[in-house]
Amino acid sequence: MNIQQNISLKSYNTFGIDVTASRFVSVDNFIKLQKILTQEKDVFLLSGGSNMLLTKNIDKLVIHINIKGISVYYENESEVELTVNAGEDWHEFVMWCISQNYGGIENLSLIPGNVGTSPIQNIGAYGVEVKDVITKVEGIDLNSAKKVEFYNKECNFGYRNSIFKNELKEKIVITSVRFKLTKINHHLNTNYGAIEKELAIRKISNPTIKDISDIVINIRQAKLPDPKKIGNSGSFFKNPIVSLKQFKKLQEKYPNIPFYKIPSSKKEDTSYNYKIPAGWLIEIAGFKGKRYGDCGIHDNQALVLVNFDKASGTDIYTLAKKIQETILSIFEITLDIEVNIIE
Ligand code: EPU
Repeated sequence: MNIQQNISLKSYNTFGIDVTASRFVSVDNFIKLQKILTQEKDVFLLSGGSNMLLTKNIDKLVIHINIKGISVYYENESEVELTVNAGEDWHEFVMWCISQNYGGIENLSLIPGNVGTSPIQNIGAYGVEVKDVITKVEGIDLNSAKKVEFYNKECNFGYRNSIFKNELKEKIVITSVRFKLTKINHHLNTNYGAIEKELAIRKISNPTIKDISDIVINIRQAKLPDPKKIGNSGSFFKNPIVSLKQFKKLQEKYPNIPFYKIPSSKKEDTSYNYKIPAGWLIEIAGFKGKRYGDCGIHDNQALVLVNFDKASGTDIYTLAKKIQETILSIFEITLDIEVNIIE
């Protein structure tokens, strides 16, 4: 086991925050990882580093999950089930699926991060969430170092949420994810306004999964900053969900407020709630495109906080709290942070 000392984590997190790991090891297979976990109990797991804000040095053994490989678990004429190891880059995996004509994740093109962390926050974009195609998640229990597995229903998936963010937070490490994808008769999801618009402009009436992926890549590149160029972690906040009563009050004051109507999560309840884009709230509050020292709010999508160069995790977290306070005082809405804050 090659443990390195005092390693900068700057290139291991998409925010580009320069903190140090007192001990660091990169692990490329399941058995090695299991062995480390039988010896070390106080560990910090690092994958693509795309959904975390580091605010301090890490005084634990940092384990970089770098297990690669894709294998076919099962296939027939119409479907394929793939087992994908946690260290595979998410977007490269999506691109590979498109080259094989495997459908289901084309709307999730260009999302930063690794396959192993995709179930944790149930990554989603343009009408698709990764929970729609996951059949199983495998990992290792940090305490016993034994293999664990969770079928889709056991993952308690929700909007940017899962069991891995709640009951199992810091209790397991995900080592592979199994996906069920289509080989023919792909279920294309083109309802999202920006995708529909772009299909019309391109005069495409029978899109392929490659067409959808190309369009999603274009939309994302226009709106979202490339973490390789400007440090960021995608949406910093979740879109808040408000009741009909609160929504009506807001709509009276802001007739142009954008919203998505969503059914209540309680089965017996037939009413709707309203999801409001946090990016809109933050823009109306006047934060869009503002810079505070080395951190700020992206100028094309106010939901994204950015590190222009040398911002610390605390600088960004302080800005996030200022935004939360302002949104609460203007709109009486609490914005929840989506990114995992490491304090
Ligand atoms: N809007 C503004 N100003 C802004 C940003 C957005 O007014 O600065 C309004 C616009 O009216 C726009 C609406 O918000 O039409 C929706 O914006 P967008 O399509 O960009 O989607 P979003 O709701 O802001 C969510 C996800 C994104 C995902 C997009 C597309 C969350 C927290 N974010 O953003 O996910 O790419 O939908 O599906 O749900 C991520 O999680 O990192 C991420 C980028």
